[in-house]
Amino acid sequence: MKAIICTKYGPPEVLELREVDKPVPKDNEVLIKIHATTVTAGDVADRSGKVSASSWLPTRMMFGFTKPRRKIPGSDLAGVIEAVGKDVTLFKAGDQVFGAAGWGSGAYAEYKCVGQDARLALKPDNMNYEESAAVAFGAGTALHFIRKANIDPEQKVLIYGASGSVGSYAVQIAKYYGAEVTGVCSTANLELVQSLGADNVIDYTAEDFTKNGVTYDVIFDAVYKTFYSACKNSLAQAGVYATVGMSMVLMMQMLWTKMASSRRIISGVASIKAEDILLLKELAQEGHLKSVIDKTYPLEQIAEAHAYVEAGHKVGNVVITI
Ligand SMILES: NC(=O)c1ccc[n+]([C@@H]2O[C@H](COP(=O)([O-])OP(=O)(O)OC[C@H]3O[C@@H](n4cnc5c(N)ncnc54)[C@H](OP(=O)(O)O)[C@@H]3O)[C@@H](O)[C@H]2O)c1
Repeated sequence: MKAIICTKYGPPEVLELREVDKPVPKDNEVLIKIHATTVTAGDVADRSGKVSASSWLPTRMMFGFTKPRRKIPGSDLAGVIEAVGKDVTLFKAGDQVFGAAGWGSGAYAEYKCVGQDARLALKPDNMNYEESAAVAFGAGTALHFIRKANIDPEQKVLIYGASGSVGSYAVQIAKYYGAEVTGVCSTANLELVQSLGADNVIDYTAEDFTKNGVTYDVIFDAVYKTFYSACKNSLAQAGVYATVGMSMVLMMQMLWTKMASSRRIISGVASIKAEDILLLKELAQEGHLKSVIDKTYPLEQIAEAHAYVEAGHKVGNVVITI
C-alpha cells in the first residue's frame, strides 16, 4: 500500500511517499481503507520536532529522541471498513467510520488497523469523509477543554483563535452547552465565526479584548496566543482560563491561582476517549457540529499541505484525500 514515511525530524520534505506492507487486522481489530485524513498542528509538531525548551525532554521521551518513533504519521482518519478480526462485534465490513488512528498514528496511508474499542464511530450521514476526518483531533480537543471548564447555560464564554481547527469546533460546542459565545479571530474570518454560531465576534487585529472592560466566565485560548496574566482582568470573579498551551510558567500559575483565588486555570494534554467520538458523532448527526475545511490535498502533496499548516493561518482544517 502507499504510505507517507517520516524517518527524521525536519522540514515538510522529510515526508516521503513509499510502498509498504498492507496491515492485517488482529482478532479484535478492524482494517480501514482510509479515504481522508488531516494535517493537524500536532502532526506538524511531530514531524518538525520543534518544541519549547521546557517541554523538549518529555516530548522527546514520548515521541522519539533522535527520530520520530511513529514511522507513519497522521492522527485523524475516515474511511470504510474492509475487513474485521474474528472477535470484532461492534463493526462489520462496509461500515463507513471516522476517528483517531491511535497512539501509534499511521493515518497517512491507504490502510490502517485499529482496535474495535478504539476511538472510532460510524460516520455521520450528513458529513462526507473529508468533513468527518477532521473531527477527532479538533473537535475532540475542543470538547475536552470546554467540558473541563464546566460551562453553565448562558455563561459568557470567549473563544480565542475561533477560526482554527480547535477554535471553530469550540465555538459550536460552547453554543451547544448553551453559552453566550464571543469568538476572537482576524478580519477575514469574522463572518465565518459568526456563521458557526458565535453571538459576538472580536477582530484581534483591531481590538484587544483584554482592554475593552468586558468580563467572561470562561476564556478558552484555542491557539495558545494569550497569557493568563493579560487575560485575568477579563475573567469574572470565579472565572476559568483554559488554554491548549502548556509551559512551566502556566503550571506555576495554575497552582498559585488555585491557592490564592476563586479563579481556575485549565491546561495540559487533551484526553479524547471512545465515548467522546460517539458524542461528537451525535452532535454532528443532529446538526450541532460542522467541520470547516480550508484546503484539500492528495496524499502525494503531503509536504505542501504540511508547509501550509505550519504557516499558522489555516481556517478550520486541512484535509488529505487518499
Ligand atoms: N493541549 C492539547 O492537548 C492540544 C491538542 C490539540 C491541539 N493543541 C494545540 O492547539 C493549537 C491549535 O491547534 P489548531 O489545529 O486548532 O490550530 P490552527 O488551526 O493551525 O490555528 C490556525 C488559526 O489560528 C488563528 N490565529 C493565528 N494567530 C492568531 C492570533 N494571534 N490570535 C487569534 N487567532 C490566531 C489563525 O487565524 P488568522 O490567520 O486569521 O490569524 C488560524 O485560523 C496548536 O498550538 C496545537 O498544538 C493542543
